[in-house]
Amino acid sequence: MLELKNINSGYEKLQIINNVSLAASPKEITVIIGPNGSGKSTLLRTIFGMCNVYSGNVVYNKADITKMQTYGIARIGLSYSPQNKNVFGTLTVQENLEMGRDFVEGEKTKIEEEIFSLFPRLKERRFSDARFLSGGERQMLAMARALMDKPEFLLLDEPSAGLSPKIMNEIFRKIVEINELGTGILLVEQNAKQAMEIANKIIVMENGSIAMQGGRELRNEKKVRHLFFGGVV
Ligand SMILES: Nc1ncnc2c1ncn2[C@@H]1O[C@H](COP(=O)(O)OP(=O)(O)OP(=O)(O)O)[C@@H](O)[C@H]1O
Ligand SMILES: [Mg+2]
Repeated sequence: MLELKNINSGYEKLQIINNVSLAASPKEITVIIGPNGSGKSTLLRTIFGMCNVYSGNVVYNKADITKMQTYGIARIGLSYSPQNKNVFGTLTVQENLEMGRDFVEGEKTKIEEEIFSLFPRLKERRFSDARFLSGGERQMLAMARALMDKPEFLLLDEPSAGLSPKIMNEIFRKIVEINELGTGILLVEQNAKQAMEIANKIIVMENGSIAMQGGRELRNEKKVRHLFFGGVV
């Protein structure tokens, strides 16, 4: 279980997140939506030890990780795929997957086979430089990179940004598949409609605070519809 308890955080002295509390289960897909600049990415960075936390706690499997460094957090089962993707264009797909990781004998091939069965397209392109990948393939590589650490929990920041509807659907299907294979998902999305469709839990952010949270039924709330669809759908 990943929990935030009364978190106030930001950059240096600039407070962005105000008193946020939430709990995300490793069995579920938790979706965070909200307007541009509402603090969604900052919330993920806070969890991953990349912001200043002024007060409150980040708790993971009952351990307080508020003051833990990013590399330490990555070792205890959390993995983060940032909004600006951490894909290295001049490295091949396979080199991207292996980059920055130590493997014990035999483990690398096993994890790679698992990842390539989830993303067959990456397998076909394993020896191409990442800069030659399409937008959708890059997003998949970014997710695949995050999965190389075999996380219990995956934090995804806008994996569908800039993709055509067809490829976007494919990315959402992959996220569901990753969750079904046993990884918890905390997903930040601009594509609110589709994200809410795959969510077990929905969190709506506004101005650095949680405006609403609940189950999939939140999709039908007037306020949610107004915020994201201008009240027309
Ligand atoms: N490194 C930073 N230093 C200072 N302020 C920052 C930094 N990164 C973001 N901010 C500010 O924090 C606020 C929230 O930004 P954040 O990126 O968390 O929003 P977001 O909800 O992810 O928006 P978007 O949907 O556009 O990605 C914004 O006002 C932004 O200018
Ligand atoms: Mg963002």
